Amino acid sequence: MNATLERWSTRRAFILAVTGAAVGLGNIWRFPYITGENGGAAFLVLYVAFVLLLGLPIMMAEILIGRAGRRSPVESLGHLAALAGASRHWRFLGLFGAFTVFCILSFYSVVSGWSIEFFVTAINGGFVGRDPAEIGAGFEAFLADPWRMVFNHTLFLFMTMTVVAAGVAKGLERLNNLLMPLLYLLLMLLAGYAATTDGFGTALAWLFRPDLAAITPMVVMHAMGHAFFTLAVGACALMAYGAYMPERQSLPHAAGAVALLDVGVALLAGIAIFSVVFSQGMDPGEGPGLMFVTLPIAFAELPWGALWLSTFFLLLLLATWTSSINLAEPMVATLQGRGLGRGRSATLVGVLVWLMGLLSALSFSTLSGWRPLFGMNAFDLVTTIPTEIFLPVGGLLIAVFSAWVMPRHEAQAALGVGESGFFLWRTVVRWVSIPLAALVLAAGLL
Ligand code: PHE
Ligand code: NA
Repeated sequence: MNATLERWSTRRAFILAVTGAAVGLGNIWRFPYITGENGGAAFLVLYVAFVLLLGLPIMMAEILIGRAGRRSPVESLGHLAALAGASRHWRFLGLFGAFTVFCILSFYSVVSGWSIEFFVTAINGGFVGRDPAEIGAGFEAFLADPWRMVFNHTLFLFMTMTVVAAGVAKGLERLNNLLMPLLYLLLMLLAGYAATTDGFGTALAWLFRPDLAAITPMVVMHAMGHAFFTLAVGACALMAYGAYMPERQSLPHAAGAVALLDVGVALLAGIAIFSVVFSQGMDPGEGPGLMFVTLPIAFAELPWGALWLSTFFLLLLLATWTSSINLAEPMVATLQGRGLGRGRSATLVGVLVWLMGLLSALSFSTLSGWRPLFGMNAFDLVTTIPTEIFLPVGGLLIAVFSAWVMPRHEAQAALGVGESGFFLWRTVVRWVSIPLAALVLAAGLL
């Protein structure tokens, strides 16, 4: 193969892999319900600001560390720390990241399991002719059924760990990226349909006309956590991809493209979902069920609704599949680095995540009365604390490591930009991202 072509194909492969990790439940499920719970446009403004000021620069920092280290996250951090004459304890940042993704994957698998159930129901025409109230009640009944919740969680996690164990993530990514444009197309179709409903104007105003009085320290904290979550930044998961990044690829361009796409997908989903919310007179702050209730209602209004709806859930499933593989990979790689075989590492991780996931899966039934902390049940805790505290803390440390600890020369080479570009990036990380993340964390925690 011609050298230029080969380089082009690997550059593209890198962007596709990072996109696969980034686009997932965060965009289509989490973004709308968190925005709904936090006042709409005020939250959106903060979230976009955090993507630009924290998410994007720190995404570059994270990938850059992997690219400079050319090893697994734990080893890259240890190696680069040694080069800089800094403490070897920086390695623990890699382990902290593995713990963070462990917690995230436990609920990610449960919610992705909901897509399996919805896909099956949709393809069997289960939503045809149902009115909004029936659809809402059906979702409640599903949540309250411990067996179906555990079954779908088990199935999804099994799908994920099989791909990880077999080491065929690359193939799945290719399939994923072949089909993702179709998911975006479906979202556009939905947003187009939304424009014809009488909730559309209200939805746009709710999403884009901020009421600054709605901003509280908690809303700021939620927005920061979501920026990290949706870009898959802060858990050293993207660091692993950096190790395979081709020599001559501009990291800022790649990261910028992924962030743009990620925000775009979230906005489309938001427009579609909130138009339904307002035309049906529903509550935007309805919580984690928002997408699962509104989309069946919206598709039911369209010709061939059952077909579109089942296609949508199938594609969503594919999107979450690649994200969850990215969530599992750092843990499996860490165990493998300690001499355990790939199959065994994947099995061990799968079993542990499955057990942890049971807490989330049963939060709506058997364990609904169990509120160990802040009056929150297990599902609320595990969807909040790792995303809103662990990811920002991890991201903050990644930023400090890349901009203050790493030898300058290594960092610049890995970012793949000239003097002035590097200076700009490092200035933003040093004097904007790090203080901002520290400030929001402090304000939220104290
Ligand atoms: N970015 C993914 C999403 O939006 C979630 C994720 C978080 C994936 C952290 C990997 C690491 O769905
Ligand atoms: Na995302």
